Amino acid sequence: MEIAFSLLALAASFAGGKVRAAISALILLAAASAAAAPLEERLPTCLACHGETGQSNTPEIPSLGAQMSPYVLIQLYLFREKQRMNEIMNQMAHDLTDADLQTFADAIAKLPAPRSAGEPSDPAVMATGLSLVLRYRCNFCHNADLSGRDNVPRIAGQREDFLVKTMLEYKNNTRHGYDGSMAEVLQPISEGEIKDIAYFVSRQP
Ligand code: HEC
Ligand code: HEC
Repeated sequence: MEIAFSLLALAASFAGGKVRAAISALILLAAASAAAAPLEERLPTCLACHGETGQSNTPEIPSLGAQMSPYVLIQLYLFREKQRMNEIMNQMAHDLTDADLQTFADAIAKLPAPRSAGEPSDPAVMATGLSLVLRYRCNFCHNADLSGRDNVPRIAGQREDFLVKTMLEYKNNTRHGYDGSMAEVLQPISEGEIKDIAYFVSRQP
């Protein structure tokens, strides 16, 4: 439990871009403690950052609730192989076997879906967001209600700040997907449009 609290503090510092060096030691500690315990005891370590109920309360850490198992499996693989770069997650996945990845993916898929970001406060932005989602056919791949399908993730109700961050990373090619679909999708989409899309998507149930 102590580790869980340190992790949360650590995650917050990360999001704020502060105290990097002090944090690295903590990540190693978390990774080591996660690796030592049996798998079912390791999930709480993950959820200390990602939110116990499947809903993340920490800036730039994605909610995992009801995420597609095949998608999670692939992402954990990409983190382990350092094809998707993130200091924390590269460490967390470092020692996991393929079977571990599958077990985590299945456990995560069973968590409840995150709540949407609440009532829309700006109907005009909601309308723009919806029209962009339809124009760029997000609903074609991510499912009509954006709840995901197989290797295509659930995005409905995801944290707005994480959606913006990760879409910008696909667009500027710092996040590499298992295929190039998202880099291609985001090519014609401006930063302003990405914000409107994230506003809409994070408010979907
Ligand atoms: C110290 C905080 C922390 C811990 C502990 C942690 N994660 Fe993460 N995780 C993150 C952050 C931050 C990201 C976002 C990475 C990025 O921006 O690409 C992430 C991303 C992910 C993703 C990708 C989600 C998506 O929607 O793309 C998965 C899956 C994941 N983590 C699973 C796990 C699992 C399984 C564990 C435990 C073995 C774990 N995480 C432990 C912080 C953490
Ligand atoms: C051609 C199919 C396709 C279309 C169209 C598409 N996506 Fe995706 N999207 C994917 C796939 C596949 C992934 C997973 C890629 C990977 O491995 O990183 C993904 C990943 C994402 C992620 C990362 C989610 C996470 O939890 O890390 C976001 C956000 C996203 N898409 C948003 C959108 C939005 C918004 C649109 C419309 C503007 C869109 N996508 C259109 C296929 C698509």
